[in-house]
Amino acid sequence: MKREQWGSRFGFIMAAAGSAVGLGNIWKFPYLAGTQGGGAFLAVYLIIMGTIGVALIMAEIGIGRAAKLNPVGAFRALGGKRWMTTGVLGVVTSFMILSFYSVVGGWTIAYLVKSIAGSIHVDAPDQLAGQFNDLVTGVGEPIFYHGVFMVLTIGIVLAGVAEGIERSVKVLMPLLFVLLIVLVARSVTLPGAWEGIEFFLKPDWSQVDGPMVSAALGQAFFSLSLGMGAMVTYGSYLDSDADIPNASYWVVFLAAMVAVLGGLLVLPAVYAFGMDPAAGPGLTFITLPAVFGEMIGGYFFQILFFAMLLIAALTSSISLLAIPVAYFAEDFGVGRKFSATAVGLVIFLMGVPCSLAMGVWGDIKFFDMNIFDLMAYGVDAYTLPIGGILTALFAGWVGLEKVGNELTNQGRLSFNLMLAFKWIMRIVAPTAVLWVMVYGLLFS
Ligand code: PHE
Repeated sequence: MKREQWGSRFGFIMAAAGSAVGLGNIWKFPYLAGTQGGGAFLAVYLIIMGTIGVALIMAEIGIGRAAKLNPVGAFRALGGKRWMTTGVLGVVTSFMILSFYSVVGGWTIAYLVKSIAGSIHVDAPDQLAGQFNDLVTGVGEPIFYHGVFMVLTIGIVLAGVAEGIERSVKVLMPLLFVLLIVLVARSVTLPGAWEGIEFFLKPDWSQVDGPMVSAALGQAFFSLSLGMGAMVTYGSYLDSDADIPNASYWVVFLAAMVAVLGGLLVLPAVYAFGMDPAAGPGLTFITLPAVFGEMIGGYFFQILFFAMLLIAALTSSISLLAIPVAYFAEDFGVGRKFSATAVGLVIFLMGVPCSLAMGVWGDIKFFDMNIFDLMAYGVDAYTLPIGGILTALFAGWVGLEKVGNELTNQGRLSFNLMLAFKWIMRIVAPTAVLWVMVYGLLFS
């Protein structure tokens, strides 16, 4: 059977940018910037994105296209059996991320539905935290919405790479940008927004310290979908004429831009209404509705906001599901539709304990963490950094020639940063990530 391919270069960039831009950029980034010192965090994040991030994304896409296989098959084909574990780790990570990601995706759907119904207590801000809490600690409601989110994800993936994924991202991503720009325009023109803009854009270098750099690197990895084979998988569907370095610049640029816009959307509004920028994970679900409640036209902006968040989450979740689906379809010969449905069902079931961990199963703890936090922590602290280090070492040492050939399309394109690429992969990325990993494990 002929392997599927992206229909166009634009489609690929939208798909890869869709994978990158997600809850990580719009939900997590603003509250991290809010708690980690604003402008300085943004600067460090952008520097990491523009160096290690760009290089690693090129490497992953190159590995995928060189092998034209899922991550397990790709590492095996290019590096032999020993390297296969890197791909296996990616497949395992995709199950882990999607199981909790989908729970948050479910909250987003719930908030979109409630925003439309007008049932979010925007007029009584003191009840917003309670309302969010009621949702996430519940049993039936969050699991139902988590199920809806998985059904949407499965539905897109089983329609195929070009027919499902590409077709939806080509509509959803431009829509996301339009919604985002409308919302940012509203936020930055609010009276009193200036202070928030300054906090977010003006670096205060005294804020730079170990934990902050560590958080920025972790965020850069997660927000570029690196270290777990998502870009390997997407790269494997890319045609051999596409310019990988150029596509990578675009993806990193778009992901960084959305993080900046995400910050410009959330933080000025939070300042304008005298809320606490360091409110943490509740910033999007608790603080923002309070802001919408006081804003003229808030009802519509709130619907736009949660619709945009849902789009961002979906274009990422499909890339997460695409990894195991490609693996099972290629290595076990099961059909793509069956694979998407079966894997999706398993991930839905894995998500149920994650959801319950927010409430009735909150007391079930491993290493002092509930199941939800354990998954998220395991990914952040172990599987993504390890996957990133292995991928960099692979691309820099073992697979340099093959990956390098992909970056120049077998010598047909000139790529004048090859030397930088080589040393970032060989030394810079592995040491930086290892430092952050060890640092995080010892000092958190
Ligand atoms: N990049 C996505 C986000 O920022 C999350 C993600 C991680 C998606 C890894 C795919 C793979 O939300």
